[in-house]
Amino acid sequence: NKGKYEHYMQKEIHEQPESLTTTMRGRLIRGGSHKAKTVLLGGLKDHLKTIRRSRRIVFIGCGTSYNAALAARPILEELSGVPVTMEVASDLLDRQGPIYREDTAVFVSQSGETADTLLALEYALENGALCVGITNTVGSAIARHTHCGVHINAGAEIGVASTKAYTSQIVVMAMLALAIGGDTISNEAKREATIDGLIDLPNKVREVLQLDQEMKDLAKLLIAEQSLLVFGRGYNYATALEGALKVKEVALMHSEGILAGEMKHGPLALVDENLPIVVIATRDACFSKQQSVIQQLHARKGRLIVMCSKGDAAAVCPGESCRAIEVPQVEDCLQPVVNIIPLQLLAYHLTVLRGFNVDQPRNLAKSVTTQ
Ligand code: UD1
Ligand code: BG6
Repeated sequence: NKGKYEHYMQKEIHEQPESLTTTMRGRLIRGGSHKAKTVLLGGLKDHLKTIRRSRRIVFIGCGTSYNAALAARPILEELSGVPVTMEVASDLLDRQGPIYREDTAVFVSQSGETADTLLALEYALENGALCVGITNTVGSAIARHTHCGVHINAGAEIGVASTKAYTSQIVVMAMLALAIGGDTISNEAKREATIDGLIDLPNKVREVLQLDQEMKDLAKLLIAEQSLLVFGRGYNYATALEGALKVKEVALMHSEGILAGEMKHGPLALVDENLPIVVIATRDACFSKQQSVIQQLHARKGRLIVMCSKGDAAAVCPGESCRAIEVPQVEDCLQPVVNIIPLQLLAYHLTVLRGFNVDQPRNLAKSVTTQ
């Protein structure tokens, strides 16, 4: 039931304040001072010791689920102290890449039925790794075959392009980082800021959803473009990949997410006064590096759309022609949840304006159960 919405994708984008609330329900435990201080993931509590002792955490997934894991990787590295690596499920299988008994392999899948991810799970089970699932679908193959896991509880997702599952996956993996990190002194400040940030996140998501009309106006400007580049780095490299994936899969427009640190090593050659470029430059440890990326793109007459923190538009925009998308600032590790939303809205409006099928894009399936 789409309710007041025209499409499931639109409904699922707009219901993210609620889906995120459901994802966190019962999992953030309040301390004595009325502040939430602890994370409780029921499905993992008997396995946390093993995960902490593992030699490596390997995230495995496809498409949007892979991007969500990539968004959560930095906070997991920071809080867990365990090295974290990433595998696209099909690539792990193609290479028969190394998976060891001492590894924790985390399988991220909205449907829990994706063939590539499921085969990678069988492979990791054979190799003796502890296998953890992060799924939206109770009773799905991945939920059943993993040793333990966490349901993201985002509610059924109907649109082929994943939106609310993406943000719930990131939130669950941030909670996973908190759970693995435990309450060590060195993590204390980051842990408290992250938990406070999680509690307030649905409000910030509600706030960023108010950009809907602005994103529709931007979509009108971009409707006839051939291509759109999205530059990100650090926590928001994943946002660049996922924003570009949304534009590609539903709006049927070529789009590429680019690691901003790689700009000089190729992508800069594409820059001219015609090609639209989104640069994600919200406040975090990478901000000054992104400012210099913006300057370099501007020097080559790049057509810039900069996503920045509230109040930063004037500071980040190098010229009149630059457009800014101002988003609320949140704790750095949660910023990808906020930042993806304007790009989801942009992809949605571009698709409708271009006259394509939003909920069932050409050639794609919600759940790819064959290899
Ligand atoms: C569980 C209940 C929830 C109840 C709560 C109360 C289920 C599905 N969830 O939630 O209804 O309100 O207790 O304490 O009954 N698992 C995997 N692989 C996965 C995902 C999950 O093995 O990919 C396992 C978990 O290890 C766990 C079980 O499935 O044993 C349920 O996981 P989850 O729903 O995340 O647990 P709770 O949040 O504790
Ligand atoms: C398909 C979907 O390709 O599978 C994508 O069209 C999705 O939206 C990908 O990200 C992975 O799916 P899942 O269910 O494993 O998260």
